[in-house]
Amino acid sequence: MRQPLGFGLGLRPVYYADILEHKPDVDWFEILSENYMVPGGRPLAMLESIRADYPLVMHGVSLSLASTDPLDMDYLRALKALADRIEPQWISDHLCWTGIHGVNLHDLLPVPYTQEALDHVVERIARIQDFLGRRLVIENVSSYVRFAEQDMDEWTFIAAMAERADCELLLDINNVFVSSFNHDFNADAFMNAIPPERVRQFHLAGHSEGEALKIDTHDHPICDEVWALYEKACARFGPIATMIERDDNFPPFEELVAELDRARAIASRVFSGKAA
Ligand SMILES: [Fe+2]
Repeated sequence: MRQPLGFGLGLRPVYYADILEHKPDVDWFEILSENYMVPGGRPLAMLESIRADYPLVMHGVSLSLASTDPLDMDYLRALKALADRIEPQWISDHLCWTGIHGVNLHDLLPVPYTQEALDHVVERIARIQDFLGRRLVIENVSSYVRFAEQDMDEWTFIAAMAERADCELLLDINNVFVSSFNHDFNADAFMNAIPPERVRQFHLAGHSEGEALKIDTHDHPICDEVWALYEKACARFGPIATMIERDDNFPPFEELVAELDRARAIASRVFSGKAA
């Protein structure tokens, strides 16, 4: 059985100095791959300094897995070169599409959960995995609209995708919560359909409350409902690498470490059998 990686945070430039100076008690960092897919410069130098002390995971937003555009081989070559350089524990991206006909919409757009889309995504994941020489870890996105035409639920699609493509999953617990509210489904039904042996990582994050929708903004502390769902996820999936995403309204670094300690406390309560 593989060793769980523990509890990580997103590596963001505002925290470089804190991390290098104080070597905080964080087990690993997740990087945004696209920020470092360059031949040199300060971000890459910072990354290599931090890599000397911490394991890294690569998280991208540009594979556009569900698009019908051809795979971007230049992007994949740059992704592989970065992976060769920093030797991440794994590489993740999202079950989404980000554009069509060469136009990048800079958003993680939901997939129609149809058999045709499933066949398409599975075939693309297989080709990407062959090229990278490793399994991909695929994340569920939050969504605000859905397609009128679908053959199955999101969770059925994800479970089938993982089995057929032989990929792994990044379960974003805040995204499950946000989408369950926006589309009025049961978050437990989502989680109970996901095969535990496929889950490699959890994301936790805060979100914003819109007029009629919850929006996945990563600019607030994690809410109580998501902490409760995390506790259920620990019970169902076991000790999975857990990471907090924060991308705006950045608090002092110690506040994120304290939030991570809350995740540690929940997980250890579950695994010591003292869960409520
Ligand atoms: Fe996420």
